[in-house]
Amino acid sequence: MAKVKFTIITLFQDALAPYLSTSMMWKATKNNIAEFSFVDLRDFGLGPHKSVDDTPYGGGDGMLLRCEPVFAAIEKIKQDDPTAKVILPTPAGQIWCQSLIRQFAEKIESQEENHFIILCPHYEGYDERILTLVDYQVSLGHFVLTGGELPALIIIDSIVRLLPGVLGGESSAIIESFSEGNTIEYPQYTKPADFRGMKVPEVLLSGHHGKIKEWRESHQRPSQS
Ligand code: ADE
Repeated sequence: MAKVKFTIITLFQDALAPYLSTSMMWKATKNNIAEFSFVDLRDFGLGPHKSVDDTPYGGGDGMLLRCEPVFAAIEKIKQDDPTAKVILPTPAGQIWCQSLIRQFAEKIESQEENHFIILCPHYEGYDERILTLVDYQVSLGHFVLTGGELPALIIIDSIVRLLPGVLGGESSAIIESFSEGNTIEYPQYTKPADFRGMKVPEVLLSGHHGKIKEWRESHQRPSQS
C-alpha cells in the first residue's frame, strides 16, 4: 500500500502536533498510510540566539527568513532521502484546489513521490534564494496568514484523506466527486426525522432509491470549490 511521509520544518511544532495525532490523521498514521515528523528550524539557527531571520536589504518592514538555517535543514533531510520534494506555502503560489490535491494523491498512490518536506515560513517573508530549494509553491487562497503552519495542516489533511484506507466508510465515488473541483452537493439529513418542527423531506424516508436519486439531483447546489 502507498505510504506518504511529511517532514515539516517549523518553529512551532507544538501548534501542529495535536492536529496530526487526532482523528483521521491519527488513523492514517496508525494504519501506516502517513508518517509525520518535525524538524525544528531553530536547531539550525545562527549564533547564540539561534537566529533564523534578519532585516531585508534595501530596507522595509519586518524580518525575513534567512537562507542558512533553511538550506541546512533541507540539506540534512535530503541527505537521508534525496528524493524528498519541498513544498512552500506562500500567498504567491499556485492555488491549492481539489484537482491539484488529486494530482499529489495520485503521485503518492503510484509511488512516484512519497516524501514531502513542508517548509513553514514565518515573519514577513523569506529570502528569495530559498526558492531554489522549492519544488512546489502553493497558496491556500487570496489572503495572507502569519505563517505556514495552518497551510501545512490543510495541505496534509487534504492529501491524506484521498489516500486509500483513510476514509474507510466513504465510497470512492464520493471522494472522487469532491476531487474534481466542481463538486455538486445536495442537502443531507440524519436522525431525528423531526427536529423542533423542521422535518426531513418525506421522500428521503421512503426507501425508494429511484425517487431519492431524483430528489437529490433536483436539489443539487454548486459547492464553494
Ligand atoms: N502564507 C501566508 N499566507 C498564505 C496563504 N494564503 N497561502 C499559503 N501560505 C501562506
